[in-house]
Amino acid sequence: MKHWRLEDVAWDRFDPAQVDPSMVPLVKAAAMVERNGVDYAVYLGRVFVDDPDFRRASDNWAVEEVQHGDALGRWAMLADPGWDFEAAFQRYRDKLPLDADASVRGSRTGELIARCMVETGTSSYYTALAEATGEPVLQQVCKLIAADEYRHFKLFYDHMRRYLARERLGMLNRLRIAAGRITESEDDELAYAYHCGNEPVAMAYEHERCISAYMGRAISFYRYRHIERAMGMILKSVGLPPRGRLSAAGARLTWALLQRRRRKFEGVGLKAA
Ligand SMILES: [Fe+2]
Ligand SMILES: [Fe+2]
Repeated sequence: MKHWRLEDVAWDRFDPAQVDPSMVPLVKAAAMVERNGVDYAVYLGRVFVDDPDFRRASDNWAVEEVQHGDALGRWAMLADPGWDFEAAFQRYRDKLPLDADASVRGSRTGELIARCMVETGTSSYYTALAEATGEPVLQQVCKLIAADEYRHFKLFYDHMRRYLARERLGMLNRLRIAAGRITESEDDELAYAYHCGNEPVAMAYEHERCISAYMGRAISFYRYRHIERAMGMILKSVGLPPRGRLSAAGARLTWALLQRRRRKFEGVGLKAA
């Protein structure tokens, strides 16, 4: 069912000289969030309890997400041989401050729109990382993952259209859910993964410090074309034209906001240092 396997990656081509040290902490954090995908499939299974087609698809989706975590974790251990993925992941799993109803979107259409936003984010993020790194193994891994994420987007989008015909969720509601999920990317999931993957056990978790360290670096790898493409996917998800004036204006605005966030995060980093 999977489109690729860990063995398909040319691990022996790993080139330590090409590793960008500022990317390693991001890969470690992403590895943990991805690996945790199974938890979300359990939740989706409950939400879509009477839809066996979707449940089969979402179970398969989770297997792919876990593989993303395994591939990124393996690369991070090549880049930093002292890093222990299993230990970091255990630390993450044990204390992840999960808000029980944070993922309730009010309807199945809403849940699927939120999933489309996540896949839009991951598909553009791994594309950006693949294009930014000169390290051949990370490049291959990120390209393989980005292709999966785009397929995931299409999967959730197709099911969303099916539910939309039934639930008739209005445009404003769809926009509200999409915007809500996008702003959640600064929530605890990533920040806490950054903490467990990169900071000493003795250091206390602090959301602001961790999200700034993660997002400040992550944003720096995006190029304008990645934001343009993501904007098209976001608009398509809510039922607006993915190309044209609205999309171009949305991309410009998002780019400006991201650069502002980046400056803010870098400011927090300087204060912490
Ligand atoms: Fe993924
Ligand atoms: Fe995905």
